[in-house]
Amino acid sequence: MSLPLTDNLTSYDRLNELLAEFGQQHVLRHWAELDDVQRETLASQLNEIDLTELTRLISGKDKNTDFAALAMRASSPPAVRADGSGAEWPPAQARQRGEDALRKGELGAVIVAGGQGTRLGFDQPKGMFPIGPVSGRTLFQFFADRLLAVNEKYGCRIPLYIMTSDATDQQTREYFAANNNLGVPDEDLYIFKQGVMPAVDSVTGELLLQSPSSLALSPDGHGGTVSALDRCGCLTDAASRGIAHLAYIQVDNPLANLCEPELIGHHLMAASEMTTQVVRKRYPMEKVGNVVLVDGQVQIIEYSDLPTPAAEAVNEDGSLKLWAGNIAVHLFNVDFLRGVAAKAGLLPFHRALKKVPYCDEQGQLVSPDQPNATKFERFIFDLLPIAKNAFVVESLASEAFAPVKNADGSPTDTPNAAKKAIADLHREWLEQAGVCVDQGVQVEINSKLALSSDDLKGKIRTNLRIDADRYFDTRLESPE
Ligand code: UTP
Repeated sequence: MSLPLTDNLTSYDRLNELLAEFGQQHVLRHWAELDDVQRETLASQLNEIDLTELTRLISGKDKNTDFAALAMRASSPPAVRADGSGAEWPPAQARQRGEDALRKGELGAVIVAGGQGTRLGFDQPKGMFPIGPVSGRTLFQFFADRLLAVNEKYGCRIPLYIMTSDATDQQTREYFAANNNLGVPDEDLYIFKQGVMPAVDSVTGELLLQSPSSLALSPDGHGGTVSALDRCGCLTDAASRGIAHLAYIQVDNPLANLCEPELIGHHLMAASEMTTQVVRKRYPMEKVGNVVLVDGQVQIIEYSDLPTPAAEAVNEDGSLKLWAGNIAVHLFNVDFLRGVAAKAGLLPFHRALKKVPYCDEQGQLVSPDQPNATKFERFIFDLLPIAKNAFVVESLASEAFAPVKNADGSPTDTPNAAKKAIADLHREWLEQAGVCVDQGVQVEINSKLALSSDDLKGKIRTNLRIDADRYFDTRLESPE
């Protein structure tokens, strides 16, 4: 490698010295060929990495959880079940409490939308995916409509914090700007970007370059939400508005009941710092995180870490002992998140072996056909064990969970499956309101018309018959 230019010697020397301490100086191997802007890009990426922490992660010194042993000691977490059992208070009381908190303006909303959506294979941010079975509304529209409906119903103004990443930020901002923020007032919408983590060679632990002037970086996982909320001023903003709790969802579940009063109420009644909504697992090895209680702490054991005997263990009535499946719908106390953000390193990193294209010694891009790299991600659910009084609320999958993960044609979690789940739920609401919906007809209801089947009653003609696909937006049918 030729010598660097004289005027950049200082920064080259400084970087080289720093990197050499951690055996990572190879990332400067193309320095001499880079222009000033490229050097600045690489230098600023390197400056943002905590090399001490990265070295610890690469050496695996933080990796000591024996999930198999944990799973054998695991039991059902403190929870209220879908039938209302398990809590010391009735669901109606929880609903009342949640509605009061909404009316008092104590809630904010967080939607995480920074994932790369690799499995879905959609070339825009997942939030822009058209998911409305009849309307074609996007995931972002679904949630904006829902939030505006909650605001209207409870006379509040819930700020919406949307987390993006390098992969989704620009398109998300442009989409909201081009669509009048989907109706969300400017002063209530915050789009903020999560952090990144570098990928390393899975054998040597060396940092990978994506080009001669850039590291191979990827989003730091949904667990990056806490530090990003803090860094971007959202936690301070929330506190200054008197927001005590944040309702968290991920953008890829159109049935996620953002800011649902009963869930909020359970969180408050349990005096919990973090409450998580779950669904009952359908079978022992279902591919969901298992929300469990171990040694007095609520935590999640991933399905891949759950030994078969623990997964298959049953109660006397034949039901699964470890029944609670994670759907990534949470409620957080703002003070709790501020405390976590103030203490670096509270959330652990998880490793994933992935195929990551990299730039070789000659500066050529190599696309590996086998996993070659370790990526590091934080998971939001690792907050559960450190939260006081962590609490679990069961909901029915048909009312709360329709993940959009894989492209149509895959066996599960596809857009078509989610569209069907939405249409089926809304058919049920209409039928409960006395409306007849013909077989094979798809229906869809905008939250602005009804947030639940109860909302629909009295707003719609009971002798109505729906014989073709129909989208009910904000227009009301005469109850005559
Ligand atoms: P997934 O782990 O399912 O990832 O994220 P993904 O990006 O949607 O899809 P794949 O794995 O690449 O196919 C679950 C949710 O968490 C968000 C995603 O946007 C999605 O809503 N997420 C994930 C982030 O916001 N940031 C991340 O770093 C990871």
